[in-house]
Amino acid sequence: MTLHPIRLTVNGKSEEASVPAAMTLLEFLRERLYLTGAKEGCGAGECGACTVLLDGLPVTACLVLAVEGDGREVRTVEGEAKATGLSVLQRAFIEEGAIQCGFCTPGMIMSARGLLERNSNPTDAEIVEAIAGNLCRCTGYEAIVAAIRRAAKEERDRR
Ligand code: FES
Ligand code: FES
Repeated sequence: MTLHPIRLTVNGKSEEASVPAAMTLLEFLRERLYLTGAKEGCGAGECGACTVLLDGLPVTACLVLAVEGDGREVRTVEGEAKATGLSVLQRAFIEEGAIQCGFCTPGMIMSARGLLERNSNPTDAEIVEAIAGNLCRCTGYEAIVAAIRRAAKEERDRR
């Protein structure tokens, strides 16, 4: 099998690897780097459980090839928490009761992070649009929207 060299930054750390052409970015993150926060739900771009940021924009990592990550910057939910603890966004999900089984949560968090970096004061409609590709079968979306709204306010207040 032909392997392709890639070099990319993941959560601020430079990574180099040789990967098969058909390996997805999701497989690379989970199986090579053991970053298992991004989940495989549908494997077909429909559930958003695998959402990560690629050069700051949310993508479904199950539909991106690892070789497409070459030279780019990837962020996963593992990059949200800092040495000092969970991020404002992660805590807001807990405090608003926006997590039940948690399967959708890493993808939700990364879609929300992508939104908040583009727009620090989103309307509820903009929040709903940002997570439109992320399915949750447990919590219902009101608590998730409330969590993102709360995190946006807390992050603005800290500036
Ligand atoms: S696993 Fe990627 S969108 Fe569902
Ligand atoms: S918390 Fe279970 S799928 Fe969202």
